[in-house]
Amino acid sequence: MDRIDKRFSGKGMPLGPLVYLSILTVTCLHFVAVGGQISSTSPLMQSVDASNYSVQKAFSIEDVLAQYSGKSTRPNEKTGRPDDVYCALTEINLDAVDETKMEFRITATLGLAWADPRIQSLLPANSDTIYSIRGADIDRIWLPDLYFPLLKDGDFHKITSTNRVVRVSKHLYPGVFYNIRLTLTQSCHMKLSNFPFDSQKCDTLISTFSYDDGELKLHWMYSQLIETGSGIQLNLPQFSQPTVKATDFTVEEIYQAQESVQFNVTYTILNFSICLHRLGGFFVLTDMLTSIILSFLSWLNYWLDPDQAPARISLGITTVLAAITQASNASKRGLPELSYITALDVWLTANVNVTIIGLAEYGLVHVLAVRARRLEERLERLTKDKYKQRMAGQPPQDEETSFVLCRRGRTAPKDTDEGQLISQAAVRYRQWAKRIDQGMRVAVPSFLVVFVAAYVSTYTIYWNGDECAQ
Ligand SMILES: *[C@@H]1O[C@H](CO)[C@@H](O)[C@H](O)[C@H]1NC(C)=O
Ligand SMILES: *[C@@H]1O[C@H](CO)[C@@H](O)[C@H](O)[C@H]1NC(C)=O
Ligand SMILES: *[C@@H]1O[C@H](CO)[C@@H](O)[C@H](O)[C@H]1NC(C)=O
Repeated sequence: MDRIDKRFSGKGMPLGPLVYLSILTVTCLHFVAVGGQISSTSPLMQSVDASNYSVQKAFSIEDVLAQYSGKSTRPNEKTGRPDDVYCALTEINLDAVDETKMEFRITATLGLAWADPRIQSLLPANSDTIYSIRGADIDRIWLPDLYFPLLKDGDFHKITSTNRVVRVSKHLYPGVFYNIRLTLTQSCHMKLSNFPFDSQKCDTLISTFSYDDGELKLHWMYSQLIETGSGIQLNLPQFSQPTVKATDFTVEEIYQAQESVQFNVTYTILNFSICLHRLGGFFVLTDMLTSIILSFLSWLNYWLDPDQAPARISLGITTVLAAITQASNASKRGLPELSYITALDVWLTANVNVTIIGLAEYGLVHVLAVRARRLEERLERLTKDKYKQRMAGQPPQDEETSFVLCRRGRTAPKDTDEGQLISQAAVRYRQWAKRIDQGMRVAVPSFLVVFVAAYVSTYTIYWNGDECAQ
């Protein structure tokens, strides 16, 4: 198999120099021929004549194709044995992963190999040569009818001509080698609840459309090469180098023609699974860092004087609005509309809530501060009245104070303890407001520390890749 692999995959052939060399050779030959005077004695022509080139020319693959029949029957149709088809994916480029459409796109060379004695027996005996069938001639021989069950859209590569070739050999097993370059967009069901620390497993399934297991058996050609994942060219900065796994499984389809008549058809499906780990660093540096900075900004609120309403309210509202805008922008980025929350949503929501609590807390503190201030004003007025009365030597009779107090459903101050009670209440309100602020100064950072610790420990466990472990 080793020998096949090397010739089959044709990897690592530096095309540039080869093309250049052949152009050069053609140009030289042209010059030599047009020049006229030069005969076959030219050393260049001699070397061409002397090579095995002319020997190969004597036999053309066209001779084989002319005699070949049975394009639509598989090689082992008559013997009844299943045909073994070996399959390989090489030179894989992972071009795109689209979370919104739940699809991914790869470009790969699909290699297929099978035995077709009908071609091989027509090749010249004792020939080591590998003959190539190109272009439209390929459609003159039997090809396995592979299909991709998860395919949404796909294309051949047609530049400069369709990128496919069949190579046939008399001696190499199994004998017919077919390479075709494809771009495949396939659906991939992604679970995004750990986004942006998620891993995604995207399968490329390969099966035959019309042959069942008894007629055509699919095998991976060299699973060892595929297992490592190093052969994949990753063109996505958001993911680390994927791990891949090549497996196969069979599915059974049951046809029920009539009530009593039923037959099963078993298909082999090859499963080439690419496992991608998202690198969450970008999201940590942008969205997550911004939102926790906004949380700390809103935390500054607890250090401002409760009487500075304009300062505290503007800081509170600004941080809440900024956090909400930032969160809604960040959670929409590149994701479909999900009915569950992602890890990023959890982070953003927690931080938005911290800023909202900062604003709501000021609502409470403000009420307490206003009450304290009203009591202080009342106390001030009371003191002034008492002073006036004492100066005038009259009994207490202040209409304004009485009016205010009556309206509030309270009894007017009657004794000298009243002033003391009011001042005590005012101090109590002040103390509550202060205690709430002081409590929040400690509570918010401790909540954030606990939250970050819990978050990191929860999601790094997932990040280590449970999705790909199986
Ligand atoms: C032609 O090929 C055969 C077998 O590959 C080799 O033995 C022979 O030397 C070649 N002839 C020339 C002239 O190179
Ligand atoms: C066909 O399917 C039926 C129902 O699942 C099962 O009982 C039976 O064994 C199958 N036959 C074969 C040959 O697999
Ligand atoms: C394909 O293989 C992967 C990895 O082994 C597995 O997780 C996945 O379920 C397989 N897909 C199907 C359709 O069986």
